[in-house]
Amino acid sequence: MKKNIVKIILDVSLAIMFVLLMNPRVFNGLPFHEVTGLVIGVAIFVHIALNYKWVVNTAKKMFDRSLSGKTRFSFLLNILLFISMTGIIVTGILISKVVFPHIAGGENHVLRELHDVFSNATLVLVGVHIALHWHWIMGVWRKIFKTKEGHWRKGVLVAFALVFALFFGSMHWLAVHVKPSEEAFKSKFKHEVAHVGDMPAPPKKFREGEFPHKERHGSSHPLLVIFGHFTFWAVVIVPVYYIEKRMRHRRQVRV
Ligand code: HEM
Ligand code: HEM
Repeated sequence: MKKNIVKIILDVSLAIMFVLLMNPRVFNGLPFHEVTGLVIGVAIFVHIALNYKWVVNTAKKMFDRSLSGKTRFSFLLNILLFISMTGIIVTGILISKVVFPHIAGGENHVLRELHDVFSNATLVLVGVHIALHWHWIMGVWRKIFKTKEGHWRKGVLVAFALVFALFFGSMHWLAVHVKPSEEAFKSKFKHEVAHVGDMPAPPKKFREGEFPHKERHGSSHPLLVIFGHFTFWAVVIVPVYYIEKRMRHRRQVRV
């Protein structure tokens, strides 16, 4: 059970960190984005290490007929997840402006677009990945909150409510008091302005001082970012979970 608690805490932290990274303007903007982006890379390695046995055993049985379709699908999904996550981190490092400002020498539109494509692909893949583990997630929560006899553990409930309140409070406080530096984003924007050179009045969305990503990413309030992306995941998780449940049920009937 202890290992499962460590796993669920890591998984929830991974999910929250990941969705906060989906908006590079959250908190102080790029400093938070780049450092947390690198931290999540390390956290994913820990996540895989905690499931190391599953990875090795499944890889060995990959061409074995006894392996269930779900496990095979999970394995392939995990490979895709690994590729897309690596893609985000590598392109992130190459377009970095704060942690590795000199690595690729300036703006690169293609790499930034690739970074965006990998991020969106990973968002969808992680949704499917969570759906395939929904049964396990609910089982662990049940064990955390309820005794074997089915009674609620009141101490755990109170502790959880406190952690929840503290989390929401601190997120809101940070959203109000820590703002991103528009300068970090402006350079790209100035570059685009410089590019149009002496052309007549630039189109409105390229005028200096405006921030094009603002429209693209919507609000950067962390609670709204978390809520928005978790809602997206719910839309992915619900159908995938029920399709998987139905297939599991059919398999059991056949056996
Ligand atoms: C936001 C990101 C992610 C979340 C929330 C997440 C969540 C989960 C959950 C809930 C489980 C089952 C319990 C556990 O063992 O922890 C799991 C298992 C696993 N995850 Fe992730 N995961 C994420 C990203 C990834 C990535 C990028 C990979 C890359 C390969 C990955 C690989 C695995 C593996 C190998 C397992 C065990 C095997 C399996 O049953 O699929 N996960 N993940
Ligand atoms: C899981 C990890 C990460 C996710 C989900 C993520 C996601 C994103 C997204 C969605 C954007 C906006 C792209 C656009 O609208 O064109 C972005 C921009 C960016 N990211 Fe990441 N990122 C991650 C990790 C990193 C890392 C590790 C770095 C650097 C070390 C990084 C550096 C950047 C930079 C420099 C931008 C461009 C900001 C600008 O518009 O000037 N990211 N990221």
